[in-house]
Amino acid sequence: MNSQTEKDIRDITELVDIKDKSILELGCGMGRISFALADRVQELTAIDIDEKAIRYAQQRNVHDNVVFRVEDLEDFDIGRKYDLILSIGVGYMYLRNLPNAVKNISQHLDDDGIALLICSSPTSEYERVVDLLVEEHVKSVSFYNKFEKILSDHFTFSKKQIKGQLDFSDFDEILRCFQRELKEEYATDMNDQHEEVLKRFFQRKDRLTIEDDSQAYICKHV
Ligand SMILES: C[S@@+](CC[C@H](N)C(=O)[O-])C[C@H]1O[C@@H](n2cnc3c(N)ncnc32)[C@H](O)[C@@H]1O
Repeated sequence: MNSQTEKDIRDITELVDIKDKSILELGCGMGRISFALADRVQELTAIDIDEKAIRYAQQRNVHDNVVFRVEDLEDFDIGRKYDLILSIGVGYMYLRNLPNAVKNISQHLDDDGIALLICSSPTSEYERVVDLLVEEHVKSVSFYNKFEKILSDHFTFSKKQIKGQLDFSDFDEILRCFQRELKEEYATDMNDQHEEVLKRFFQRKDRLTIEDDSQAYICKHV
C-alpha cells in the first residue's frame, strides 16, 4: 500500500466504522481502495464506468468477498442495499445527471446506512488555483452549492475537512499536474495564459507546495 492509500484508509476509518460492513464503493478505478479495505470488511462491491480499469481490477482480485462491476453511477441498479457507500475522488461535478446519481446512491443505502463521499474541497488552495484556470460555470464553489442542495433532497449530512498537501519538485511537475487536471476533468488544453497564472501563483510562495484538502460528506437517510 503506498503512503497516499494508507492516508486515505486512515481518513476513511476515522470517519466511519468499516468493520464487518457490506460496502458499495463508487468510482473504484483500478481498486486501489477496494484492495486495501478487503480484509477488514464483510463484503465489498466496487463499481466504475471505466471498463479497462475494472478488467484490470478483476484480474488482480484474489479476495472472495470483493466483486468489481462496470456500472455508471448515473444509471445503475444492483438490486440490493449496503451498510456503507464510499466514494473517494469521484468528480461529481463532471456528471451529466447529478440528481440521478445521488438518487441511485440513496436507493442502494440501507435505512440506517452511511454514505461517505470524499470530494475535493472548494476552499482548498488546489481547487482555488483550478478555479483561476477554468470558466465561471465550472468553478468548484458554485458546483458544491448545487451538490449540497441535491444531497439534501435525499440525506442529512455533515461535512468534515481532511488535510492534504501536494509537493512538487519543480515547475514542470506543477505544469504536468494542472495540465492533467484540465485535460481529464475539463477537456481543456493548457495554454500560455494558464501557464502564466500558475507561474504568478507559485512565484508568491516560498515552497513548491500546495494545500490540497478534501471534503468528506457523511450522509444518512433523511
Ligand atoms: C480520480 S478517480 C478515483 C479512483 C479511486 N476511487 C481512487 O481513489 O483510486 C475517479 C474515478 O471515478 C470514475 N467515474 C467517473 N464517472 C463515473 C460514473 N459516471 N460512474 C462510475 N464511475 C465513474 C472514473 O472512471 C475514475 O475511475
